Amino acid sequence: MSSHPLAPTLRITRVKSAGAIRLARAANQLFDEPADRAALTAYLSDRRNIFLLASVNTTPVGFLRATALGQLHTRRPQMFLYEVAVARRFRRLGVGRALVERLLGYCRQQRFEEVFVFTNPANRAAVSLYRGTGAVTETPRDRMFVYRLAKRPRPGRRGASPH
Ligand SMILES: CC(C)(COP(=O)(O)OP(=O)(O)OC[C@H]1O[C@@H](n2cnc3c(N)ncnc32)[C@H](O)[C@@H]1OP(=O)(O)O)[C@@H](O)C(=O)NCCC(=O)NCCS
Repeated sequence: MSSHPLAPTLRITRVKSAGAIRLARAANQLFDEPADRAALTAYLSDRRNIFLLASVNTTPVGFLRATALGQLHTRRPQMFLYEVAVARRFRRLGVGRALVERLLGYCRQQRFEEVFVFTNPANRAAVSLYRGTGAVTETPRDRMFVYRLAKRPRPGRRGASPH
């Protein structure tokens, strides 16, 4: 990120429910469909949901949203990276990478087992972004990209919790 010219002015912030109205006002143009304020507030109030907003000099330029999921074989959660998007004129400047890296930092700190994201393998930008930040696939044609944050349990011990 530091090699990009935007780096000094780029800010990544986690938006919580108190920021819903400001977010709807400032960042609606980033969404495919305008956000409904009540829905946005409910979404941001749910602690399992992570919404990261990228801004350059207070202008919203991108966002990422993800949801934490519980698992059955371990108490360590996994994170579903649902969506990451950057405004066209701010692409290729390190914003997407900064958003993903912030999420990964949070997930490492909170002891998540993994982060996963789906994308169309034809989406070159997304595939390069995910691979470039450490995600892997089982085969080159997979749609699911996984960031493995924890060592996999040994075969036969899959049911054992690391806690
Ligand atoms: C995918 C997306 C979020 C990337 O955001 P971005 O801010 O442009 O990404 P970055 O500038 O941080 O790029 C990080 C790396 O991803 C790769 N990358 C990004 N855009 C690329 C493109 N168009 N072609 C090839 N590689 C690309 C590069 O490896 C890049 O590193 P580099 O610039 O040092 O070479 C952006 O293209 C976007 O919003 N696309 C539309 C929405 C979308 O498809 N989201 C993903 C699926 S939900």
